[in-house]
Amino acid sequence: MDTEKDARQAPSGKSETFFIPEVLGADHRVPTLSGEWVRQIFMDNAASTKPFRAVSTFLRDMEGYYSNIHRGTGFDSLLCTERYEEAREIVSRFVGGDPERDIVIPVRNTTEGLNLLAMTFALSPDDVVLTTILEHHSNDLPWRGKAHVAYVGRLPDGRLDMQGFERSLAEFGSRIRVVAVTGASNVTGEVLPIHEIASRAHQHDARVVIDAAQLAPHRRIDMRPHDDPGHLDFVVFSAHKMNSPYGEGAIVGRRDAFAGAAPYLQGGGTVYSVSLDHVIWADPPDRQEAGTPNILGLFALAAAINLYERIGMDRVAEHERSLTRRLLEGMRGIPGVWIMGPGDPTDLEDRLGVVTFAVDGLHHNLVASVLSYEYGISVRAGCFCAHPLIKSFLDVDKEREKAFEDRIRGGDRRDIPGGVRVSIGLHNTDEDVGRFLEALRAIAAKEWRGTYHQKFITGEFVPEGFSFSFRACPGFPSEPGC
Ligand code: ALA
Repeated sequence: MDTEKDARQAPSGKSETFFIPEVLGADHRVPTLSGEWVRQIFMDNAASTKPFRAVSTFLRDMEGYYSNIHRGTGFDSLLCTERYEEAREIVSRFVGGDPERDIVIPVRNTTEGLNLLAMTFALSPDDVVLTTILEHHSNDLPWRGKAHVAYVGRLPDGRLDMQGFERSLAEFGSRIRVVAVTGASNVTGEVLPIHEIASRAHQHDARVVIDAAQLAPHRRIDMRPHDDPGHLDFVVFSAHKMNSPYGEGAIVGRRDAFAGAAPYLQGGGTVYSVSLDHVIWADPPDRQEAGTPNILGLFALAAAINLYERIGMDRVAEHERSLTRRLLEGMRGIPGVWIMGPGDPTDLEDRLGVVTFAVDGLHHNLVASVLSYEYGISVRAGCFCAHPLIKSFLDVDKEREKAFEDRIRGGDRRDIPGGVRVSIGLHNTDEDVGRFLEALRAIAAKEWRGTYHQKFITGEFVPEGFSFSFRACPGFPSEPGC
């Protein structure tokens, strides 16, 4: 991979001299309601990121060598097996895994990884899984039904209530088997004190699971040695949030936790011997890798990690902080805009460039649609798979919840509560932030061009007079710009 060739200078601020790998599609043009094509401003990175060009090129180069791994005797199979195991090592090193005591289990994404852990941990209804109200549903729903799930709440400013965490530890004590927390919120951007949480959890002999889907692309993760009280037992993350959107994710965590457990999925590759009446399961990680894995996906994740490491995670954080500072300063100055979660631009040490907000008097889906149709700015609107947290920010009481849930059951999703989320990625620039702020200022002042209608079934807002055939985009290249 030729990083230098595929790199451009980080454009976010004068002081930066490091390089950021080129991101595909970061500046392609998209149609707007006025008929004009504009450079897309992609600021939905907390959902998914666009691929690094170098990763895409590397994959194209590797495709011809594609062959199944382990046990194939052909040259390509040997090559892929070696690279697959090497990729596993790269993934483990990236989060500070212990080469002996931790294993890497490739999965489709963070959601699958967390489900796998919840299924593996032999929990019983008396056990407690302690988690938080800040979680993505993927670090909440998989635990439900397997143990009693207890939630630590938030402070008024949106940050995790660490005193509440202490109260929960005291309340549930030795019943706590797992402490499962996000490394960074996909709604508020808060970076949680995961090592402090781990130290306290370990005093109760609980296992610590970190949903690192948001954290991994933005901050250095160090699981720390197993005998360190702040050690992280399991870290789970996704490649699609790390400029490698090819269907891969990974669990890095304690080998011994998998040794006594049956596989999450059962099938080829998980066994040493099968008879009609018994099975000898393979040792982990093979035991947890049923079926042919996403071989190229793991190569791509490792390639993206190599690029992140060449940039340096501290520089990634520095770049994003400088953009987040400008973003928050600008947003706080716009009348009618309020931020869900910490919004102080001078306090960014423990905060990512993920900002969820609402505009007084405007439906979140309308704000997101105007940004897209009139400015070519991609954000996301809704609850971000974190319904309890969004409902708490919007003070949705039980009565209101019941009312809109009744309407959802009737097929009407127009008034599901929600916010708008703008999220910074490596490719974003100062100019991107400036264009976003300019657009938001106009929208908050109720200035937009189109006449929008809300769809009953999806709740989306669509402008009159906008039509575009998506068949005109790649694969059907008959229109300019795509
Ligand atoms: N989990 C992704 C998000 O927060 C999709 O948007």
